[in-house]
Amino acid sequence: KQILILNGPNLNMLGIRDPAVYGSDTLASIESNLRKLAEGMEVTLQFLQSNHEGVLIDAIHGAYGHVDGILINPGAYTHYSYAIRDALAAVSIPTVEVHLSNIHKREEFRHLSVIAPIAVGQITGFGAYGYEMGLMALYHHILAKDK
Ligand code: DQA
Repeated sequence: KQILILNGPNLNMLGIRDPAVYGSDTLASIESNLRKLAEGMEVTLQFLQSNHEGVLIDAIHGAYGHVDGILINPGAYTHYSYAIRDALAAVSIPTVEVHLSNIHKREEFRHLSVIAPIAVGQITGFGAYGYEMGLMALYHHILAKDK
């Protein structure tokens, strides 16, 4: 199985950016934890972080036909990118949404996710570990679909 792990804007700044909210792990360490976790699964992981909406959309389009699942932290695009949502809906690849912080207990503008309605589910508030939860949940979902 092929899983694409997408991270949106400002997530390249993890470790530096507001550690009280996002924790001290860097994106590189999160990715290495995911690689370790994936050793116990029959999956190949691909990683992409971008600060550009169109780059994320191109990656989603490029996944069509050969990627079995997408794990995405869309960053602030979560709250307003109909374009990323439409791209995910267009390719109909099962998607799990992940956030380090609990978006529901932060500022009002973060409460809405325009991605959530087209996602399999959302994991929010468990810090870096949420990515591992998300990968396990996505993998389980993909395997369950094959049965
Ligand atoms: C985030 C939450 C978003 O509101 C924020 O804009 C981010 C990170 C999170 O992982 O908690 O960039 O997606």
